[in-house]
Amino acid sequence: MAKVANIHYSVDPWKITENGFDANYSRVGESVFSLGNESIGVRGCFDEGGSVDSLRGAYINGVYDLADIDRSYRGIVEKVHFMIPAADWLDTAISLDSETLDLGRIRYRDFVRELDMRTGTLTRSFIWETVGGKELKLTFIRFLDMVHRERAYQRITLEALNFSGPVEIQSGLSFQAVHEGRKTCFWRRPRCEADKNRIAMQAETLRSEQEVFVGAAIDFKNAEIVSGEKSARLCATVSLKEGEPYSVEKRVVILFDGSKQDTLWESGENALREIERVSFEDAAAAQAAYWNAYWSVSDIVIEPADGNENTVAQEQQGIRFCSFQLAQTYNGGSMRHNIGAKGLTGEAYNGHAFWDTESCCLPFYLFTNPDAAKDLLLFRYHTLPMAKNRAKMLDCRGACYPIATLNGDEACPLWQHASLQLQPSTAVAYGIWHYVRITEDREFLYRYGAEMLVEIARFLESRVALGSRTKQYGFYGVMGPDEFHLMVNNNAYTNYMGMRTLRYAAEALDELREHAPDCYEALCEKTSVTKAEAGRWRSIADNMYLPICKDGLIEQHDGFFDLPHTDVDAIPVTEFPLYAHWSYDRIYRTDMIKQPDVLMMLYLYNSSFSEAVKRRNYDYYQPRTIHESSLSPAIHSILAAELGQMKEAMDLFGFATRLDLDDYNRNTREGLHITSIAMAWANIVYGFAGLRSDGDLLRFAPRLPDRWKTLRFSLTYRGRVIDVQMARDATVFRLSAGEPLAVRVYDGIVTLTERNVSIPANKQS
Ligand code: BGC
Repeated sequence: MAKVANIHYSVDPWKITENGFDANYSRVGESVFSLGNESIGVRGCFDEGGSVDSLRGAYINGVYDLADIDRSYRGIVEKVHFMIPAADWLDTAISLDSETLDLGRIRYRDFVRELDMRTGTLTRSFIWETVGGKELKLTFIRFLDMVHRERAYQRITLEALNFSGPVEIQSGLSFQAVHEGRKTCFWRRPRCEADKNRIAMQAETLRSEQEVFVGAAIDFKNAEIVSGEKSARLCATVSLKEGEPYSVEKRVVILFDGSKQDTLWESGENALREIERVSFEDAAAAQAAYWNAYWSVSDIVIEPADGNENTVAQEQQGIRFCSFQLAQTYNGGSMRHNIGAKGLTGEAYNGHAFWDTESCCLPFYLFTNPDAAKDLLLFRYHTLPMAKNRAKMLDCRGACYPIATLNGDEACPLWQHASLQLQPSTAVAYGIWHYVRITEDREFLYRYGAEMLVEIARFLESRVALGSRTKQYGFYGVMGPDEFHLMVNNNAYTNYMGMRTLRYAAEALDELREHAPDCYEALCEKTSVTKAEAGRWRSIADNMYLPICKDGLIEQHDGFFDLPHTDVDAIPVTEFPLYAHWSYDRIYRTDMIKQPDVLMMLYLYNSSFSEAVKRRNYDYYQPRTIHESSLSPAIHSILAAELGQMKEAMDLFGFATRLDLDDYNRNTREGLHITSIAMAWANIVYGFAGLRSDGDLLRFAPRLPDRWKTLRFSLTYRGRVIDVQMARDATVFRLSAGEPLAVRVYDGIVTLTERNVSIPANKQS
C-alpha cells in the first residue's frame, strides 16, 4: 500500500487527544475535532479565531446557496448548490492587559485538546503567559445537543494562576462567515436584537432565500452590546481572583425549519426562552446519557491478543471514532437530510451526498438504527421529482438520481460524473432491495419503494442499448465506480447493477399485484406503468452483457485488458492526493483503478458469485487499485478477509479505520471522510465477522484477526438484538431481545435464541 499513517493524536479507547498545538496541523485538527448532531455541525476551530491557519465552519444541514454555471451544454447542470458556513456561534474574544488571545501570536503552554466520545464534548485548555508575566488558564468546552438538535453549548473557564485583575471577554454571534472556496459571505438582511445577556439574529441566504435564526443566552452580569453589520457581541470586563475559576456559559439555538421572517423569529425566540431555562450541567448530563445509550447498543469492542496491545488500542480508538462521527452526522432525525460525503465537517464536496449513502452507509443503519435507514430512503422518495427532471435533461425517461446533491437536484458541474455515472440510481434501487430484505418493511416497498423502482427502471431502459458486436444489452458511454476511466462501454458493474435493478423492479410489481392490489392500482394510475413495460425490463435483464472470461475474470469495461500498466506501489506518497498532483487526463490512461469497480459488485451482491470468481477478480484488481477514494480500502479488506488473505485484510483495515485520525489521504484538513467511516464499521462486521446480508438468511463467517483476542458487537435485526462475541476458538451468538432466529454460520444453519450458541471457528475458512 502506497499510503502511510501520520500518527498525531494519542491513543485512548474513548478519547482523541492532542497534546501541544502544531500550527501546521491546525486544519486537520479542526476536522478531527468536528462536532455534529445531524442538524448542525461545527469544525473544531478555536472559539477565539486568531491568526492560526483555519477553515472556520459552522454548518446547518440543508442550508446552501446557489451559483450559475457560466457555460452549459444541454445535459450539463445550469446551476449548482453548495453548503455554506452559517451563523458563527462560537465567536469569542478575550483580552488581558494589552494582549488579545490569539494562539498564533501569544505565548502559551500545556495545550491539550480532547474529544470525549463518551460525552460528545470537545475540551481545549492551555495556559496563557502574557508579556507582563501573568498566567491565565483557559478551558473551552462545547457540545451540540443530540436530542434537541437546534441547541449548542459553549463554556469558557478562566483561572488566574498568579494574579488578580480584570480580563475583557466578548461573546457574540455572527453571520459574517465567508465561504472559503467562493470567497463570499452568503448572508444578507440580518435582523438583530441584543440586550445585556442575550442576542438574537436572523439572516437570509443570497439566492436560495433560506432563513436561519440564531440566538444565544450568555450569562454575563453587566455587558455592553457592540453591534456590527452582520454580527453582535456582548462585552464584559470580569475581575478575576487568583486561583478562583470563573466561567461564562453560552447557550445557543439555531433554527432552520423552512419558515421565514416573523414566523421564524417567533419560533427562534421561543426556542431561546426554552434554552434559557436549561442549565449547562443538565444539558451536559443529558448529552452524556445519550451517548451512553448509543454505545450500549452500537459499540464494537476489540480485546487484544497478548503482545498486540498498542496496535489494537489504535484500532479500537479508530472504530469508535468512526462510529461516533457517523452517529453525529446522521441518525434519522429527518427524512429531508442525507449524509454528506464530508458530513458537516468542511466545505469540500459542498456538503453533497453521493451514491455512498446507499452503497456504503446504509448497512450501518440497517443493523443499528433501521428507522434511520428508512429515512435515508425516504429522502430519495421526496427527491424523486428532481430525479425525473434530471432524466429529462439527459434525454432519458424515468428518474436519474444525482451523483452529488443536498436538496435532490444534481449539483455536480462535471458532466463526466453527473451524466455518465448511473450508480446513484442503481444504488437507490439496491438500497430499497437491501432495506426491504433486512427489515421486511413491505409497506415501505408498496408505498414508496415501488414507485422509485419504476422510475429508475424506466431511466435504465431509456439509457441501455443493444451492442452491435455483443448483440446483447449494455450501457455505453458511462463512468463506473472507478472514476479513473470515463466514457467507457459495457462497464461490468453498471451492466450488472442495471440488470439486477430492472429485474427487481419487475419483481416488485409482481409482488404488489399479488399482495397489495390497491397499492398496485394506485401505482399504475400514478405512473402509468404496465405489465408490458415490466416485461421489457425483464427481457433486457435476461439479455444483459456481462464481460466474464472462462476463468471467472470479469473485464471492468470493454478494452480494459489492453490498457498500459501502472505500478501503483511505485507512486511516491508525496504525490497524493493524485488529483492535486497529476494532470486531470494523466490519471485516465492506464489500468490504475481509483476504487473497486468489479469488486464493488462482488461486495454488494456477494452471495451471487462463487468464491473462485471472487478470488480471481480480487487477485487481478487489488494490485491495480490505488484507493484514491476513501470508500475503497474497506471493500478490499472485506473481500480479502473472505478469501482468507488476513494480512492484506488487516493492512487495509487499519487504513479504513484510521483514515482521518492518521490523515492517510493527506486531505483530512478539508473535512472528514464520513462515508468511508461507515465502511470502517462494515469492515469489521462484514469483514471479520463475515456478515452477509444479501442471501436468503443472514450469514456469518467469523474470522478473527490474529492480533485480536475477542471481538464483540451487537446487531438489530427484525425486532431482535443479536449479540456476537468472537474468540479464537469459537463465536458465541445470543439474542438479547426478540424471537428465535435462523441464521447461517459458515455453511450450517443455526437457530439463535436467548441462550448462548457457540460455534467453533472454521479454521479452513
Ligand atoms: C469517489 C466516489 C464517491 C465520492 C464521494 C469520490 O472520490 O470516487 O465514488 O461517491 O468520492 O465520497
